[in-house]
Amino acid sequence: MKKSEPLTKKPQELNRSFLENFRYTMSHNPYHDKLGEFKKFVLLNEEGEAHRGHWSSEVFKNTAPLCVEIGSGYGDFMHQYTQLNPDINFIAIEHRFKRSFSLARKLEALPVQNFRYLRAKGERLHMTFGEGEIQKLFFFFPDPWPKNKHHKKRLFQSYFLGMAYQCLAPDGIFYIKTDHDNYFEWMLEHLEHYNQHNPDKKFKIELKSFDLRQEYPEHFLSSFKTKFEKIFIEQGVKIKALVLTKEHRG
Ligand SMILES: C[S@@+](CC[C@H](N)C(=O)[O-])C[C@H]1O[C@@H](n2cnc3c(N)ncnc32)[C@H](O)[C@@H]1O
Repeated sequence: MKKSEPLTKKPQELNRSFLENFRYTMSHNPYHDKLGEFKKFVLLNEEGEAHRGHWSSEVFKNTAPLCVEIGSGYGDFMHQYTQLNPDINFIAIEHRFKRSFSLARKLEALPVQNFRYLRAKGERLHMTFGEGEIQKLFFFFPDPWPKNKHHKKRLFQSYFLGMAYQCLAPDGIFYIKTDHDNYFEWMLEHLEHYNQHNPDKKFKIELKSFDLRQEYPEHFLSSFKTKFEKIFIEQGVKIKALVLTKEHRG
């Protein structure tokens, strides 16, 4: 397996969408305009970045804790979680247009409207949320990019971990699930690498499992199945999971 990339990588070598001057290209995707029908809760491209650091006060107009999911797909988790927890603010990030449209139609009908939906990229986390703004961060079944030459496209890398650390509240929690053995190993390696190089901003591993449902059947992460997770479980794939918090010194 490819070894972790050095943390000192220059920004120029990173995926462009991590960079401050990145702009989404004007898309001719037909779903771009269709998503405009859901302006009440859908924000497109950079629109969400205007609320960085002020989501609860400006957008939700309350002081409820902010939960963020990256790569919501068809939104099964978001759907369940927002309706079971009316006292939170929830933001879903998904970059595929058609998937976003299909989800937006379902979301419109939900009785509890405690969410916003960003047609945007997870790489923009630090541009979208202020320091310590996120109470819970969810990252379920991210695209595994299985080919070696595509590993660099995996979102879970040192740079991303630094952003996640910055955006999480001091007592924030980062929940991760994956079906993919190689991506899970990659996550563990990158986490170790990140922690070694960032002794003041370390993540603490609260839970690490190679078989979540067997080892932690009562855990919150075993209490729901995302759309992709249902498929993997039917195929007999073991679900791998991580729960991370910020390590505090002293
Ligand atoms: C394998 S699907 C999992 C969807 C959902 N979390 C589930 O478990 O059912 C991964 C999703 O992440 C989205 N995605 C991948 N990379 C992303 C990125 N950089 N930013 C936002 N969404 C992304 C994909 O479009 C896709 O819908």
